[in-house]
Amino acid sequence: MQISHNISLKPYNTFGIDAKAKHFVSVSSIEELKKVLELTEYPNKLILGGGSNMLLTKDQDLLVIHINIKGISIVSEDTDTVLVKANAGENWHEFVLWCINKDFGGIENLSLIPGNVGSAPIQNIGAYGVELKDAFFSCEAIALESKKIETFTKEACYFDYRNSIFKQQAKDKYIIINVTFKLTKQNHKLHIHYGTIASELEGMKINNPTIQDISKAVISIRTQKLPNPKDIGNSGSFFKNPVITKTQYQSLLENFEDMPSYAVSDTEVKVPAGWLIEKAGFKGKRFGDYGVHKNQALVLVNYGDAKGSDILKLAELIQKTIKRLFNISIEAEVNIL
Ligand code: EPU
Repeated sequence: MQISHNISLKPYNTFGIDAKAKHFVSVSSIEELKKVLELTEYPNKLILGGGSNMLLTKDQDLLVIHINIKGISIVSEDTDTVLVKANAGENWHEFVLWCINKDFGGIENLSLIPGNVGSAPIQNIGAYGVELKDAFFSCEAIALESKKIETFTKEACYFDYRNSIFKQQAKDKYIIINVTFKLTKQNHKLHIHYGTIASELEGMKINNPTIQDISKAVISIRTQKLPNPKDIGNSGSFFKNPVITKTQYQSLLENFEDMPSYAVSDTEVKVPAGWLIEKAGFKGKRFGDYGVHKNQALVLVNYGDAKGSDILKLAELIQKTIKRLFNISIEAEVNIL
């Protein structure tokens, strides 16, 4: 364990922003992490996982702690289900593939989501009809103040759409060190009715899909629609899909009759922010080294050496335009730092 100084964070964030960390340390065990947390000379700390949900708008004048704690293990199992524990530093997609390889079902729809296991519960990652909470059993986290390890059950996490206690009351108070999932060993519950999964499977000529087939279908859809951060810097969906009242939606339909929506409750609907951004004319727009992705308007991209502050300005322009055109406020999904 070694503390470095003035380190570029470009390799540590999927947006590929070249901001600097004044101090940087990578920890590969809980013991190392506890030692770092005891260091009194660095009062301000930033916890970094896979760096896939952040936009760095400036140099970070603090100690960045990179959580690199690895390891996957089976906690217990019976005939139908298995509890699998993954440490926070495991890459999310590699963990999904590990489970699929063992024929453990439940997270196959979440294939190819960037980031690490430890960050996944914070925003309750989700895609193609499944959210992390559906397979979540518990997680362990170190309380920054007491340095004690606490267990969070599913109920204690208060999961919601791209939200959890770790973005609310527990924000900046805990570091998740591992997550335990409850997965199926047989009679897998398949989710194939969301979006284009069914047609993708049809194209693959598959009638009775396995979890392996679903993972392949999801990987194929994501590869077509979403840019690979290894080629073009990005943080996935930059904004959340906004929830509006049914009354507002009905009146918007008078001017925008093709506006899609998903039911949320008796009085509210969710509108795809990607549709709003496309309608506002931003899809595929490029401004020098940054812009809006050509296949999915919800994704802002860095083509090379964009500054985080420039991407933030573009995000604010998009928010203002959506507000003006539709009277809808869209909220950033990524953390702006
Ligand atoms: N749409 C457009 N233009 C676009 C993009 C989308 O018109 O450029 C409209 C279309 O009507 C489309 C609808 O939006 O049918 C939904 O699009 P999509 O299926 O791509 O899903 P999304 O709502 O835009 C959400 C998640 C994604 C997740 C997909 C699939 C959020 C903020 N985003 O996007 O998550 O992969 O559903 O489940 O909820 C992420 O969080 O980083 C992420 C990529």
